[in-house]
Amino acid sequence: MRPVDLPEPSPSAREASNRLRALIADRILRSGGWIGFDDYMGAALYEPGLGYYGGGAHKFGADGDFVTAPEISPLFGECLARQCLEWFDQAPACIVEFGAGSGALAVQLLGELDRLGAEGVEYRIVELSGELRERQRASIEALPLALAARVRWLDRWPDAIAGVVIGNELLDAMPARMFRLDRGRVLERGVGLDGDRLVFADRDADADFAGEVRALLAQAWGDERDWPQAYVSEVGAQASAWVREAAGRLERGAMLLLDYGFPRAELYHPQRSVGTLMCHYRHFSHGDPFRLPGLQDVTVHVDFSAVAQAAQAGGLDCLGYTSQANLLLNLGLLDRLARVPAAEVARYLPQAQAAKRLLSEAEMGELVKAIAFGRGVDDDALGFRRGDRRSAL
Ligand SMILES: C[S@@+](CC[C@H](N)C(=O)[O-])C[C@H]1O[C@@H](n2cnc3c(N)ncnc32)[C@H](O)[C@@H]1O
Repeated sequence: MRPVDLPEPSPSAREASNRLRALIADRILRSGGWIGFDDYMGAALYEPGLGYYGGGAHKFGADGDFVTAPEISPLFGECLARQCLEWFDQAPACIVEFGAGSGALAVQLLGELDRLGAEGVEYRIVELSGELRERQRASIEALPLALAARVRWLDRWPDAIAGVVIGNELLDAMPARMFRLDRGRVLERGVGLDGDRLVFADRDADADFAGEVRALLAQAWGDERDWPQAYVSEVGAQASAWVREAAGRLERGAMLLLDYGFPRAELYHPQRSVGTLMCHYRHFSHGDPFRLPGLQDVTVHVDFSAVAQAAQAGGLDCLGYTSQANLLLNLGLLDRLARVPAAEVARYLPQAQAAKRLLSEAEMGELVKAIAFGRGVDDDALGFRRGDRRSAL
């Protein structure tokens, strides 16, 4: 298949990408010619100064590479604020947001919670990217002083969390391992060199990884005799580890995670035989993670069954699992939209279009899922009252 034509980066951006490619190539040589795909993805996204999140790429919004829900419309954060408010009746009024991007969701949540009369809300942000922290600071500084003063950035995980943990499109940005199934044999797909080109390179998976892959495929497909002959996909080991860690630290309260993904049986559907790896560069999407390393986003879909298992292993109860559309409808998105009179076309139309992007099955409404967990909070969260799909996990 012919590769997608991507817009040419600036000379300095291309030079930074070449430096990252050379650094990764050097790592591959020093590791005997092969590194795992998770190590590659980790460097491509988080290498200090050069990775996509570790460096200066623009990332979100119309001028960036992709758009996330809080960048599409403040309606997103306003809806999530209603869910937080419900949980604040049962847990301290503190939000801990992981991976806060441009800070848009924090601004929306703090503003709406204030309008809804929530008092004394504290906001904590844990962010890996130094460049994004600076952007978040600039967004927060634009809030009224009394709200901006409620935000703190944490350099490391809090030992114990009491309140609401939020992560939007966090888990799909965590490095994943890849595997290839070849007539019953499990290979680990990593990265090697062909001359100075980065290429996929497969080798026999070690016993632990092969066992893990077989176990999850057995859950998805049943008897091994019926498995596809050839199949490639990913395992979000770091995402699961993150969820287990967060669950263990959540002493009281809830955790709400939204991401592109599926329950296990759907994620590893036999027809999804090339996996879910996807790259984004200036609103072009394609499947080649070796193009412009450090300048393009690299993501994999989330296995929500694995997320649920990890949270439950950390002692949390699953409070609900549904599509982004169902979550936002349950949280009153249409009522909010109706507050803008349709006759005010210039105001109404952009909001209606944004709502369509958030809700439409063909866009984010169905592809993005929401999952919530809790410790010491009721199992009837507003956002999941209609359309709960926990039984699919
Ligand atoms: C796809 S972006 C989503 C940003 C934002 N939540 C939004 O919806 O616009 C992923 C974000 O997660 C951050 N991130 C990834 N792994 C993280 C981790 N382990 N802890 C905290 N932040 C992380 C990235 O730096 C980035 O800000």
